Amino acid sequence: MTEAPLHVVTGAFGYTGRYIAGELLARGGRVRTLTNSLDRGNPFGDAIEVHPIYFDEPAALVESLRGAYALYNTYWVRYDHKQRSAGFGYAKAVENSRLLFDCARTAGVRRVVHVSVANARVDSDWGYFRGKALLEQELQASGLSYAIVRPTVIYGRPENVLINNIAWLLRHLPVFGVFGRGQARLTPIHVEDLARICADAADRDTDETLNAVGPDTFTYREMVGEMARAMGLRRPILPVPDFVALGVGKALGLFLRDIVITRHEISGLRDESMYTGTEPLGATKFSAWLKSESDTLGRRYLNDLDRRR
Ligand SMILES: NC(=O)c1ccc[n+]([C@@H]2O[C@H](COP(=O)([O-])OP(=O)(O)OC[C@H]3O[C@@H](n4cnc5c(N)ncnc54)[C@H](OP(=O)(O)O)[C@@H]3O)[C@@H](O)[C@H]2O)c1
Repeated sequence: MTEAPLHVVTGAFGYTGRYIAGELLARGGRVRTLTNSLDRGNPFGDAIEVHPIYFDEPAALVESLRGAYALYNTYWVRYDHKQRSAGFGYAKAVENSRLLFDCARTAGVRRVVHVSVANARVDSDWGYFRGKALLEQELQASGLSYAIVRPTVIYGRPENVLINNIAWLLRHLPVFGVFGRGQARLTPIHVEDLARICADAADRDTDETLNAVGPDTFTYREMVGEMARAMGLRRPILPVPDFVALGVGKALGLFLRDIVITRHEISGLRDESMYTGTEPLGATKFSAWLKSESDTLGRRYLNDLDRRR
């Protein structure tokens, strides 16, 4: 009997990778993950193969990727972080991702589905968006068959950091500050819709770049307001200057031992980097999801940095 085609997913114990792996398993695929987090909880048990993603061992990476039907790359870092015990950054993430693409080519991977970000631009002053745009160019020039999937802000189950932690702040602070008057638009995408978009993209053959956006467009203020209402909270939502938002974020970060928000995340949200105006590929309505999650959302702060310590 011939084996089912092999799907290799980076970070299946993380956020997006977990849902991509789940979607592929539900479609009957054979799934292998490449992960930094070998000791993090594995929700799939024996249903997936687990390999380390050691970028200093390219020969092992090639073997892990050999003959794969598709590689789904979610690997990236949220910010530049210089702390010695958990140092990481965009430059290294670009270098590592480039190496991963090289290994995929050497290993004869049929297709790469690369999770990028909406509005990635090489001239961005934010290393996140610049690095993502550089990698899109590298992949386009690599000779590999590719689908570049560009999500806006991703939401879903409570392990989602951004939306969950906004909810946590709403539960714990008497007022909520929105920068830039909160008028910047967002088109959030549900993580299960994103997983389906990625799995579908793997089955096609033509090179493509897709914006993965959901059906709702909100201003930041509207989105926070919807969240507060769904959780049964009355919170004044006030416009605050960026420096105040950053200052409060830094103070909270000291208290929580995390990086709550960065200067670039504030300016990126304010400049509508999480909005595309393109046709929605996701079907899940944010408000319907909020209703189903309102009891659990934001009950626990999710410490992004703790995961890396
Ligand atoms: N979350 C969003 O709202 C959002 C919005 C737009 C685009 N994206 C993009 O979507 C993709 C998935 O995002 P996600 O939020 O689902 O991320 P995630 O699960 O937290 O991380 C994705 C992958 O990156 C690895 N990783 C993350 N931080 C790392 C670090 N500091 N050092 C080494 N490896 C690290 C994880 O490693 P492990 O193997 O250890 O899990 C995992 O393989 C990323 O490419 C991201 O840029 C996310």
